[in-house]
Amino acid sequence: MHDMIYLDNGATTFPKPEVVYQQMDTFYRQHGVNPGRSGYDMCLAAGSIVEETRKLLTRFFNGTDPDRLVFGYNATDALNQAIFGLLQPGDHAITTSLEHNSVLRPLYHLSRDSRVEVDHVPFDNKGFVSPDDIARRFKKNTRLVAVNHASNVIGTIQDIGAIGKLCRERDIPLLVDASQSAGKIPIDLQRMNLDVIAFTGHKSLMGPMGIGGLYVREGLDIRHTRAGGTGVRSAQRAHLDEYPYRLEYGTPNLLGIAGLNAGVKWLQEQGMDTIERREMQLLEMLRDGLRRIDGVTLHCQDDLANHIGVLSFNVEGIEAAEVGTLLDVDHNIACRTGLHCAPMVHEQLGTDKIHGSVRFGLGPFTTESDIQKAVAAVEEIAALRATMAAARKG
Ligand SMILES: Cc1ncc(COP(=O)(O)O)c(C=O)c1O
Repeated sequence: MHDMIYLDNGATTFPKPEVVYQQMDTFYRQHGVNPGRSGYDMCLAAGSIVEETRKLLTRFFNGTDPDRLVFGYNATDALNQAIFGLLQPGDHAITTSLEHNSVLRPLYHLSRDSRVEVDHVPFDNKGFVSPDDIARRFKKNTRLVAVNHASNVIGTIQDIGAIGKLCRERDIPLLVDASQSAGKIPIDLQRMNLDVIAFTGHKSLMGPMGIGGLYVREGLDIRHTRAGGTGVRSAQRAHLDEYPYRLEYGTPNLLGIAGLNAGVKWLQEQGMDTIERREMQLLEMLRDGLRRIDGVTLHCQDDLANHIGVLSFNVEGIEAAEVGTLLDVDHNIACRTGLHCAPMVHEQLGTDKIHGSVRFGLGPFTTESDIQKAVAAVEEIAALRATMAAARKG
């Protein structure tokens, strides 16, 4: 297990920085009680890490009001809250073919069940969505634009600043899925004119699984689509309208918040740009190594500007899942194969017909040696093509 080369950081970063494990263990042993519900010391300490982490993340994304940073369980949970809480029957929404199912499926359900009309804007052959293509689809009843900041399949980063400007001019809320980008590239809510961002803690923010959330800009409100305990004003019959209670329900994931707190601080100490620069050098090395191999097709990797360290490829004549198994069994390399919960990306690339692609996702702990071994492994697998084809025929 320790010799494993982990190239599945697009799914979740692994390992976490040591301080994350330590903080989770220590904090939960010392302060693991229900935060914000009572006045005893332990409870106040539990409450203060929640509030401190709200402030930390609000500063991290350059928001204006920490109360508008609400915690949920992951990006899927956060995106569902935003999509169901912003759209109503008769509304029109615009999204892209780069989306994850955590955006596609809530929108699909609304279109199927609630008369919400949804437009999907395709990406160009380099993997980018044109902001003007989005603006061309604006209608009188457009009430939401939802865009994946960085693709979990091909790694391209969308120009959310340009999209934000166009949406703000028309007063249409822009929801950004920052699952892959938060912790990898800077996100500035104010400068980029973003209305809502959804983040997940367990990817590049370096926290554990089960913690994520939303930041909702001041002046925009999301309807609460759930209701429950908030620990304050319990006599009130209806769920509270004020933030953060408006979009938080029940006991929070305190352990997750403590770990996320340590993850974000670690990231800031290391310097997000330092990590990213190194990761992009490794990505270039990986891309260059893979594209020299006969039979390997890379998707949207010709120019690595505006990319994160995520790369998809196929080996001609061998199914992606089979390549994944060979990488795992013969080379001890962990990666992800298939459609990566983003079916429309594959429909556009044409890889849906061959059951998806192989994805390598780099992380802060990826090394040059990992990349060299991965390239050598793919080379060996690609060299098996002729033998495998003959075996299938025979
Ligand atoms: C682009 C994108 N959006 C949303 C998600 C969902 O994140 P989570 O599983 O943490 O809810 C992912 C996770 O892979 C993702 O890559």
